[in-house]
Amino acid sequence: MISNMAWDTIDVDDPIVKKVYEIYGRVIEVSSPIRNPEAILKKLRERYKLLVEPYIVYITVAAFLNNRPVLYEGPPGTGKTEIGEAILTLWSGKNAFVLPCSENYDEYRVIGDFHPVIAMSKGFNEESFIPRPLLAALILNTGILIDEIRRSSEEFQNMLLDIIDKRRIIVPELKRVYIQKDIGFQVILTSNPEDIAQNELSDAFLRRVVRIKFTYPSPEKEMEIVKLRLEGNSVKVPEKILWQMIKVVNTLRATTMYKPGVADTVAWTMLASKLALTKGKTIVDEKDVIEAGKAVLIKNLEDEDNVITALYEQFKK
Ligand SMILES: Nc1ncnc2c1ncn2[C@@H]1O[C@H](COP(=O)(O)OP(=O)(O)O)[C@@H](O)[C@H]1O
Ligand SMILES: [Mg+2]
Repeated sequence: MISNMAWDTIDVDDPIVKKVYEIYGRVIEVSSPIRNPEAILKKLRERYKLLVEPYIVYITVAAFLNNRPVLYEGPPGTGKTEIGEAILTLWSGKNAFVLPCSENYDEYRVIGDFHPVIAMSKGFNEESFIPRPLLAALILNTGILIDEIRRSSEEFQNMLLDIIDKRRIIVPELKRVYIQKDIGFQVILTSNPEDIAQNELSDAFLRRVVRIKFTYPSPEKEMEIVKLRLEGNSVKVPEKILWQMIKVVNTLRATTMYKPGVADTVAWTMLASKLALTKGKTIVDEKDVIEAGKAVLIKNLEDEDNVITALYEQFKK
């Protein structure tokens, strides 16, 4: 019976806490937490080369101050994962954990598991217990990004809800409860609602999260992002060509099955510039752009004709 057990809360003498520091301590770089939205926006741009809409940062920070989880929803390649990870890291001052979801995720993958061989000889106890990222994030007081939440099962989502709501993790086998130390531990979830192959999120889930919608940026914003990303590259991409590339990408977003995200625009410009570099040039030309475009933008047979047509309409070579 749970009520008869001696439930300990988090403490430094806890062998699991020690284990977490041993396993994850080395990958958690510590710096001062940054919690002011304007300061976060500045760091996102300077340190992470991410140009983020201010309202995204403001709402995320407001949610964190309320200890509420945030859901970033939007099409692929709009920066959800990278922006989420960067904000969590700045917020806690420690590297955030990223958990890419899949159908068969369960508590053993995210909270902790027992080493089968050690458990056989020593039993299911602290010695054989292997802490996993969600428990580690809570103990280390850092953020966790739960990526593509719709890919996980409903059971998994319910388990998460309970933890996120109560800000504590119970490990029954160890008779222990771990409680959030401070607001450094925050949760960002991501999802793509347009992907019909994925599960719906339950009402209970949606009720608890602060939802922030991600969309494709305006052509002007996308240009700013691409320029920010190309900064410091020795090979130049002429501005006229960049505008044409952004036009192609926008055409494809309206016509193809695979919709290129900002991530693809950036990948395309980077590949074109590296391609020019391998040819010994200092400026990207239309031929490089077409070659790189075919390599980056064609993701399936159905789209091939559309991509090629869009490319040749813009770059008549
Ligand atoms: N706002 C942005 N600022 C800078 N780069 C961006 C931005 N949005 C998208 N990107 C590009 O997309 C990549 C990140 O995309 P990602 O986080 O994987 O998207 P998502 O998780 O929405 O699929 C970055 O490496 C960058 O190339
Ligand atoms: Mg993502």
